[in-house]
Amino acid sequence: RMRAGKTVPDWATFPEVLEELERACPPPARQGFTVFFTGLSGAGKSTIARILYSRFLEIGTRPVTLLDGDIVRHNLSSELTFSKEHRDINVKRIGFVASEITKNRGVAICAPIAPYAATRADVRRVIEAYGGFFEVHVATPIEECEKRDRKGMYAKARAGKIKGFTGVDDPYQAPVCPDLKIDTTDMTPDEAAQAILLFLGEKGYI
Ligand code: PPS
Repeated sequence: RMRAGKTVPDWATFPEVLEELERACPPPARQGFTVFFTGLSGAGKSTIARILYSRFLEIGTRPVTLLDGDIVRHNLSSELTFSKEHRDINVKRIGFVASEITKNRGVAICAPIAPYAATRADVRRVIEAYGGFFEVHVATPIEECEKRDRKGMYAKARAGKIKGFTGVDDPYQAPVCPDLKIDTTDMTPDEAAQAILLFLGEKGYI
Protein backbone atom coordinates (compact mmCIF):
# COMPACT_ATOMS: atom_id res chain seq x y z
CA ARG A 1 0.00 0.00 0.00
CA MET A 2 1.43 3.41 -0.99
CA ARG A 3 0.89 6.55 1.02
CA ALA A 4 2.84 9.79 0.39
CA GLY A 5 5.51 7.80 -1.38
CA LYS A 6 6.00 5.41 1.56
CA THR A 7 5.10 1.76 1.71
CA VAL A 8 2.91 0.90 4.69
CA PRO A 9 3.30 -2.79 5.54
CA ASP A 10 0.06 -4.78 5.74
CA TRP A 11 0.43 -5.54 9.45
CA ALA A 12 0.40 -1.81 10.25
CA THR A 13 -3.27 -1.59 9.29
CA PHE A 14 -4.44 -4.67 11.23
CA PRO A 15 -7.15 -3.60 13.70
CA GLU A 16 -5.17 -5.10 16.59
CA VAL A 17 -2.11 -3.04 15.69
CA LEU A 18 -4.17 0.14 15.26
CA GLU A 19 -5.82 -0.46 18.63
CA GLU A 20 -2.45 -0.96 20.29
CA LEU A 21 -1.09 2.23 18.70
CA GLU A 22 -4.17 4.14 19.82
CA ARG A 23 -3.73 2.86 23.38
CA ALA A 24 -0.05 3.82 23.43
CA CYS A 25 -0.58 7.20 21.81
CA PRO A 26 -4.23 8.26 21.65
CA PRO A 27 -5.19 11.32 19.57
CA PRO A 28 -5.45 14.62 21.52
CA ALA A 29 -9.24 14.32 21.75
CA ARG A 30 -8.78 11.19 23.87
CA GLN A 31 -5.80 12.33 25.92
CA GLY A 32 -5.93 14.03 29.27
CA PHE A 33 -4.34 17.44 29.66
CA THR A 34 -3.33 20.13 32.11
CA VAL A 35 -3.90 23.85 31.83
CA PHE A 36 -1.24 25.38 34.04
CA PHE A 37 -1.73 29.05 34.89
CA THR A 38 1.18 31.10 36.18
CA GLY A 39 1.28 34.76 37.12
CA LEU A 40 1.45 37.27 39.93
CA SER A 41 -0.93 37.39 42.85
CA GLY A 42 -4.07 39.21 41.70
CA ALA A 43 -3.28 38.72 38.01
CA GLY A 44 -6.61 36.92 37.50
CA LYS A 45 -5.49 33.28 37.50
CA SER A 46 -8.17 31.98 39.87
CA THR A 47 -11.00 33.89 38.22
CA ILE A 48 -10.13 32.62 34.74
CA ALA A 49 -9.45 29.12 36.10
CA ARG A 50 -12.92 28.97 37.70
CA ILE A 51 -14.65 30.06 34.50
CA LEU A 52 -12.65 27.53 32.50
CA TYR A 53 -13.57 24.86 35.05
CA SER A 54 -17.30 25.44 34.56
CA ARG A 55 -16.91 25.54 30.78
CA PHE A 56 -15.21 22.13 30.87
CA LEU A 57 -18.00 20.80 33.09
CA GLU A 58 -20.54 21.98 30.49
CA ILE A 59 -18.55 20.33 27.69
CA GLY A 60 -18.68 17.24 29.86
CA THR A 61 -16.34 14.92 27.98
CA ARG A 62 -13.73 14.51 30.72
CA PRO A 63 -13.63 14.74 34.52
CA VAL A 64 -12.25 18.15 35.54
CA THR A 65 -10.22 19.09 38.62
CA LEU A 66 -9.37 22.61 39.71
CA LEU A 67 -6.16 22.95 41.71
CA ASP A 68 -6.23 26.59 42.72
CA GLY A 69 -3.24 28.13 44.52
CA ASP A 70 -5.13 29.12 47.65
CA ILE A 71 -7.10 25.87 47.88
CA VAL A 72 -3.98 23.73 47.48
CA ARG A 73 -2.18 25.83 50.07
CA HIS A 74 -5.03 25.15 52.49
CA ASN A 75 -5.54 21.44 51.84
CA LEU A 76 -2.32 19.99 50.48
CA SER A 77 0.47 22.39 51.44
CA SER A 78 -0.67 23.95 54.71
CA GLU A 79 2.71 23.35 56.39
CA LEU A 80 4.63 25.20 53.66
CA THR A 81 5.95 28.76 53.73
CA PHE A 82 6.70 31.04 50.77
CA SER A 83 10.45 30.36 50.70
CA LYS A 84 11.91 29.26 47.35
CA GLU A 85 12.24 25.67 48.59
CA HIS A 86 8.66 25.53 49.84
CA ARG A 87 7.20 27.21 46.75
CA ASP A 88 9.01 24.59 44.65
CA ILE A 89 7.63 21.76 46.78
CA ASN A 90 4.15 23.26 46.52
CA VAL A 91 4.30 23.63 42.73
CA LYS A 92 5.71 20.11 42.30
CA ARG A 93 2.91 18.67 44.43
CA ILE A 94 0.39 20.42 42.19
CA GLY A 95 2.28 19.07 39.17
CA PHE A 96 2.19 15.54 40.54
CA VAL A 97 -1.55 15.61 41.18
CA ALA A 98 -2.10 17.12 37.71
CA SER A 99 0.06 14.41 36.13
CA GLU A 100 -2.07 11.68 37.75
CA ILE A 101 -5.24 13.36 36.49
CA THR A 102 -3.72 13.76 33.01
CA LYS A 103 -2.62 10.12 33.02
CA ASN A 104 -6.20 9.08 33.70
CA ARG A 105 -7.37 11.23 30.78
CA GLY A 106 -8.93 13.95 32.87
CA VAL A 107 -8.47 17.70 32.77
CA ALA A 108 -6.42 19.41 35.48
CA ILE A 109 -6.54 23.18 35.86
CA CYS A 110 -3.74 24.51 38.05
CA ALA A 111 -3.49 28.11 39.21
CA PRO A 112 -0.49 28.72 41.45
CA ILE A 113 1.87 31.70 41.12
CA ALA A 114 4.64 29.19 40.23
CA PRO A 115 7.32 31.90 40.10
CA TYR A 116 10.31 29.74 39.10
CA ALA A 117 10.88 28.79 35.45
CA ALA A 118 12.91 25.65 36.19
CA THR A 119 10.17 24.26 38.45
CA ARG A 120 7.52 24.93 35.81
CA ALA A 121 9.75 23.15 33.28
CA ASP A 122 9.97 20.12 35.63
CA VAL A 123 6.21 20.04 35.94
CA ARG A 124 5.83 20.27 32.15
CA ARG A 125 8.22 17.34 31.67
CA VAL A 126 6.33 15.12 34.14
CA ILE A 127 2.90 15.91 32.68
CA GLU A 128 3.85 15.76 28.99
CA ALA A 129 4.76 12.10 29.48
CA TYR A 130 1.03 11.44 29.98
CA GLY A 131 -0.84 13.99 27.87
CA GLY A 132 -1.12 17.66 27.00
CA PHE A 133 0.44 20.45 29.00
CA PHE A 134 -0.42 24.07 28.35
CA GLU A 135 1.24 26.87 30.22
CA VAL A 136 -0.88 30.00 30.33
CA HIS A 137 0.93 33.11 31.50
CA VAL A 138 -1.56 35.49 33.06
CA ALA A 139 0.68 38.45 32.34
CA THR A 140 -1.29 41.25 33.98
CA PRO A 141 1.35 43.87 34.93
CA ILE A 142 2.14 44.34 38.59
CA GLU A 143 0.86 47.94 38.48
CA GLU A 144 -2.58 46.62 37.55
CA CYS A 145 -2.47 43.78 40.13
CA GLU A 146 -1.45 46.26 42.77
CA LYS A 147 -4.14 48.74 41.74
CA ARG A 148 -6.77 46.03 42.17
CA ASP A 149 -5.20 44.61 45.34
CA ARG A 150 -8.33 42.53 46.05
CA LYS A 151 -6.85 40.92 49.16
CA GLY A 152 -4.91 43.95 50.38
CA MET A 153 -1.72 41.86 50.16
CA TYR A 154 0.29 44.34 48.09
CA ALA A 155 -0.40 47.13 50.57
CA LYS A 156 0.83 44.86 53.38
CA ALA A 157 3.88 43.82 51.35
CA ARG A 158 4.77 47.47 50.55
CA ALA A 159 4.38 48.31 54.23
CA GLY A 160 6.79 45.48 55.07
CA LYS A 161 4.10 43.52 56.93
CA ILE A 162 4.52 40.58 54.53
CA LYS A 163 8.09 39.70 53.61
CA GLY A 164 9.07 37.94 50.38
CA PHE A 165 5.94 38.83 48.43
CA THR A 166 6.12 37.87 44.75
CA GLY A 167 6.79 40.86 42.53
CA VAL A 168 7.49 43.16 45.47
CA ASP A 169 10.52 41.68 47.22
CA ASP A 170 10.51 38.14 45.82
CA PRO A 171 11.17 37.06 42.21
CA TYR A 172 8.73 36.18 39.47
CA GLN A 173 10.42 34.60 36.44
CA ALA A 174 8.05 35.29 33.57
CA PRO A 175 7.75 32.45 31.03
CA VAL A 176 9.83 33.11 27.91
CA CYS A 177 7.76 30.85 25.71
CA PRO A 178 4.34 30.19 27.24
CA ASP A 179 1.73 28.32 25.22
CA LEU A 180 -0.57 31.27 25.75
CA LYS A 181 -0.10 34.75 27.21
CA ILE A 182 -3.06 36.66 28.61
CA ASP A 183 -3.10 40.22 29.91
CA THR A 184 -6.35 40.90 31.75
CA THR A 185 -5.88 44.68 31.72
CA ASP A 186 -8.11 45.02 28.66
CA MET A 187 -9.74 41.59 28.62
CA THR A 188 -12.56 40.18 30.71
CA PRO A 189 -12.05 36.81 32.45
CA ASP A 190 -14.77 35.38 30.16
CA GLU A 191 -12.85 36.49 27.08
CA ALA A 192 -9.66 35.02 28.51
CA ALA A 193 -11.34 31.65 29.15
CA GLN A 194 -12.78 31.75 25.63
CA ALA A 195 -9.30 32.35 24.16
CA ILE A 196 -8.01 29.29 26.03
CA LEU A 197 -10.89 27.12 24.81
CA LEU A 198 -10.24 28.28 21.24
CA PHE A 199 -6.57 27.43 21.58
CA LEU A 200 -7.33 23.93 22.96
CA GLY A 201 -9.81 23.41 20.13
CA GLU A 202 -7.17 24.30 17.54
CA LYS A 203 -4.81 21.77 19.14
CA GLY A 204 -7.50 19.09 18.88
CA TYR A 205 -7.95 18.55 22.64
CA ILE A 206 -11.60 19.66 22.73
S1 PPS B 1 3.50 29.64 44.92
O1 PPS B 1 4.60 30.60 44.83
O2 PPS B 1 3.13 29.13 43.58
O3 PPS B 1 3.80 28.53 45.84
O4 PPS B 1 2.26 30.47 45.48
P1 PPS B 1 0.74 29.97 45.65
O5 PPS B 1 0.69 28.65 46.31
O6 PPS B 1 0.04 30.11 44.36
O7 PPS B 1 0.13 30.99 46.68
C1 PPS B 1 -0.11 32.30 46.31
C2 PPS B 1 -1.18 32.94 47.21
O8 PPS B 1 -0.69 33.06 48.55
C3 PPS B 1 -0.85 34.38 49.04
N1 PPS B 1 0.47 34.75 49.56
C4 PPS B 1 1.58 35.07 48.87
N2 PPS B 1 1.84 35.18 47.55
C5 PPS B 1 3.08 35.52 47.16
N3 PPS B 1 4.10 35.75 48.01
C6 PPS B 1 3.90 35.67 49.34
N4 PPS B 1 4.89 35.90 50.20
C7 PPS B 1 2.59 35.31 49.81
N5 PPS B 1 2.05 35.14 51.05
C8 PPS B 1 0.77 34.81 50.88
C9 PPS B 1 -1.33 35.25 47.92
O9 PPS B 1 -2.58 35.73 48.28
C10 PPS B 1 -1.47 34.33 46.70
O10 PPS B 1 -2.79 34.28 46.24
P2 PPS B 1 -3.23 34.59 44.72
O11 PPS B 1 -4.48 33.79 44.56
O12 PPS B 1 -2.15 34.13 43.76
O13 PPS B 1 -3.49 36.04 44.68
